[in-house]
Amino acid sequence: MSIRRLPSELVNRIAAGEVVERPASALKELVENALDAGSEAVRIRLTAGGLELVEVADDGCGMSPDEMRLALERHATSKLPDDVLDRVTSFGFRGEALPSIASVSRFTLGSRVRGADGWRIEIDHGATVGEGPVSLPPGTCVRIEALFDKIPARRKFLRSPRAEYAACLDAVKRLAMARSDVAFVLEHDGRRILSLQPTTPPQRVAELLSAELDRNGIGIDCERNGMGLTGVVSLPTFNRGLADQQYLFVNARPVKDRLLVGALRGAYRDLIARDRHPIAALFLSVPLVDVDVNVHPAKTEVRFRDPTAVRGLIVGGLRAALDEASQKSATREQLAAPVLWTTSATYDQQPGRISALPTSPQSMPAGATAVLEEARALFDHAPPLPAPSPLSPKSRSIRSASRVARSRQPTSSRKLRTAWSSSTSMRPTNALSSRECVPQGKERRSPGSPC
Ligand SMILES: Nc1ncnc2c1ncn2[C@@H]1O[C@H](COP(=O)(O)OP(=O)(O)OP(=O)(O)O)[C@@H](O)[C@H]1O
Ligand SMILES: [Mg+2]
Repeated sequence: MSIRRLPSELVNRIAAGEVVERPASALKELVENALDAGSEAVRIRLTAGGLELVEVADDGCGMSPDEMRLALERHATSKLPDDVLDRVTSFGFRGEALPSIASVSRFTLGSRVRGADGWRIEIDHGATVGEGPVSLPPGTCVRIEALFDKIPARRKFLRSPRAEYAACLDAVKRLAMARSDVAFVLEHDGRRILSLQPTTPPQRVAELLSAELDRNGIGIDCERNGMGLTGVVSLPTFNRGLADQQYLFVNARPVKDRLLVGALRGAYRDLIARDRHPIAALFLSVPLVDVDVNVHPAKTEVRFRDPTAVRGLIVGGLRAALDEASQKSATREQLAAPVLWTTSATYDQQPGRISALPTSPQSMPAGATAVLEEARALFDHAPPLPAPSPLSPKSRSIRSASRVARSRQPTSSRKLRTAWSSSTSMRPTNALSSRECVPQGKERRSPGSPC
């Protein structure tokens, strides 16, 4: 048995096995790079759930041609200038995302530093196939095409465009919540899915979470032992069958950490059925030296120096807020206003306190009154019951009752269904029809594309 050093291309592919599991994980790495580069706006384009194309364009610091070549080498990073690994504030630090992704896809890196010319490098599954000048705005644009095309063993684990799209949307939402000061645009198969302007964390969370948290959410803001916890959680009565709307952040890094998920669960123990899950967006801030982010190649897990204190803060803070909210449940209905529940006040209050939100038309932003009224009407009208077939006398009467209820529903609220979905381009469109998910042929480089 002879020991040998593996060729760098193979090393990159092995690393890609950990870092790039599916289009969403590659997308996450690119968006993180864009944010680390100081971007104010990030534009994402996907085709067929990212299976055909993932493109991320930013207006960050950009790279010179030499820096681009270095960035594509393994373990090359600009993010550890002092070689200090226990005070990482950037999303990335391992210096392996770009070479890993480039080793398993057709990869184009275009970049331009302000005041210099743009440059482009094309890589096909690890091999550089071309480079040269390119015209593009200051910043960086990365395109990933044909992910895992030459690695059938990985390709077969990819799911449908629809499922991959859902994972990509989730990754974008997490990073958009983490950095509410940055604008995001997400397009899928030529359709604009998200268009988010820079805003406050509560507003960004409100734009991306269930609108019904207006009435069913509690603002969290507490501190203990030098750690802080802010965000919003749902009332125990407003729960889901899946734990798919739990967004957890440690020092603004989106994480999927078992300790935090367990603590969230612990806070709702005895308040929620075992198979139900709360909705949450929770931002934990911990002194940098008390948390190790170098735990997993995807950087989605962390290790705390004092896990018991972290759990105590989350369980204690949430529990206090939930208990207070349950005592005030009688008055909540009048206090909470749909649509506008997240003013910054939600976060600024003491734990669990919901401030009196604007209810008079004068104090609301233009256009909000109509939306508010219609939203109220929507919430107040249960959807019609599905009719079993064949119709029993009982179900016939239920059906006719539901028809009557619908006919009594104010026209405005019915109109709202369309108005709400078309006017709020900021709301993510989760439900893609199967037609929308059908790959639309090879993506052509559109004239609008900066790459
Ligand atoms: N969009 C971008 N704008 C400017 N520089 C970038 C961009 N993307 C990557 N870079 C540069 O390329 C380097 C390598 O990127 P890469 O993602 O491979 O590693 P990293 O971000 O340093 O660490 P990690 O592997 O943890 O993501 C970065 O350190 C950064 O200097
Ligand atoms: Mg990176």
